[in-house]
Amino acid sequence: MALITWNQSYSVEIPTIDEQHKTLVELINKLHDARLAGKGADALGLILTELIRYTQTHFAHEERLMRLYNYPDYEGHKKLHNDLVGKVLEVKSKFDAGEKALSGEVFDFLKDWLVNHIQGTDRKYTPFLKQKGVA
Ligand code: FEO
Repeated sequence: MALITWNQSYSVEIPTIDEQHKTLVELINKLHDARLAGKGADALGLILTELIRYTQTHFAHEERLMRLYNYPDYEGHKKLHNDLVGKVLEVKSKFDAGEKALSGEVFDFLKDWLVNHIQGTDRKYTPFLKQKGVA
């Protein structure tokens, strides 16, 4: 069973961004499935790297939109992005240093990270960006 199942409460009501968030959900689920299937460190490491890269791409996309329209809480939102990337890079460096198992705690963190950020922070920009015509 998937670790995270997309539901409407995760939507920021901006389809292009929802699609990116869905890709992040898929990557976390892919990593979780690979761990459950007993895949080796090489396979897990590749998915983790893909997740980090896509996270950075997604955050850069949101930050571009926020800068373009002078979103009032751009700095605060960007700081949270930086903190999240830092934490995921920490997971990756522990993984590379030998914690190859990827504990349940890592998945709890990834799930909370994505869901709390989308619902608690991303959704705050919805009215602002929609008013600017972002779709
Ligand atoms: Fe969708 Fe602020 O990350």
